[in-house]
Amino acid sequence: MAASQAVAVQRDGCPDHPTPVSAALPKGVILPTLAVEPLLRLSARAAGCTPRVIRHGILNRKRKTYMENQESAWNQSYDKGDNFVFYPHEEVIRFFARHIRKRSGVNTFIDRVDFTPPPKILDLGCGIGRHVAFAHDMGAEAYGIDLSSVALDVARKLMQEQMPDAAERIVQGDIRELPWPDQFFDFVVSHGVLDSMHFDIARSAVQDLQRVMKPGGKFYCDLVSGDDSAHAREYAEEEVVSTAHEKNTVQSYFNFAKIQKLIDVLFTLEECALIRRADVINGASSARYHLVLTPVSD
Ligand SMILES: C[S@@+](CC[C@H](N)C(=O)[O-])C[C@H]1O[C@@H](n2cnc3c(N)ncnc32)[C@H](O)[C@@H]1O
Repeated sequence: MAASQAVAVQRDGCPDHPTPVSAALPKGVILPTLAVEPLLRLSARAAGCTPRVIRHGILNRKRKTYMENQESAWNQSYDKGDNFVFYPHEEVIRFFARHIRKRSGVNTFIDRVDFTPPPKILDLGCGIGRHVAFAHDMGAEAYGIDLSSVALDVARKLMQEQMPDAAERIVQGDIRELPWPDQFFDFVVSHGVLDSMHFDIARSAVQDLQRVMKPGGKFYCDLVSGDDSAHAREYAEEEVVSTAHEKNTVQSYFNFAKIQKLIDVLFTLEECALIRRADVINGASSARYHLVLTPVSD
């Protein structure tokens, strides 16, 4: 998809992206811009509230519909068996080994942090729960959150025997509104998530994530790079996926400048590796950034 088209998709699709007021009206209502404010005022007078309340209500409804559409796209994707990967990603294993706990023998570990009590670890956008399972296997107190009820059914089944309170610890929700108290988690991992949504949503999620992380905690995430064989090196736009895998979900490409915009003043970048994978036979390549971040204390 051309960059200009991708931007248009972002503006149409995401209610959190700054759009003109006219875009907040129901589909099919076409009004000259000048007519919008009087209409809002009229509706507000009829409802006995302020135009701001009406605008807020319309945007909230759009936001809800948008999240329902995304949830449905992810559910359909999981129904087809996309992302049914049950083993942990090697970069997540590496993050654990360097920062949390490394297996050194059959029954021995090298602990990077105190395990009394075990650290609390959140898998942000956990999907079918492969990293919740890995964190639990490594002796941590594991939690997960995801939008997709289909993925979460699998995650809870996967964990129900080992984790009796799996239903409470693995929750359905939007990662912008994390249902945990301030400074609850020691570590957070998030694989293939913050690039699977519009940038503005990822940015809000990072804000709430900083709230729930303990000072000195660590956050691993990865982000797809636009530096692949289908795009130009600094490509950092957004696309709605039109091919079979993850169809109708959003793919947001990153370059280093966009990573900095994502974390802004909320996190400090400790590690940033760009890992490229090139298929030598057909010449196609893909690349992902792998980040380790620490929350900045307020
Ligand atoms: C590519 S999958 C990765 C799943 C998992 N992290 C893994 O490594 O297998 C992206 C996940 O992000 C979830 N997701 C997308 N937007 C979300 C949101 N706003 N809140 C919560 N989860 C979201 C999707 O439901 C999906 O499970």
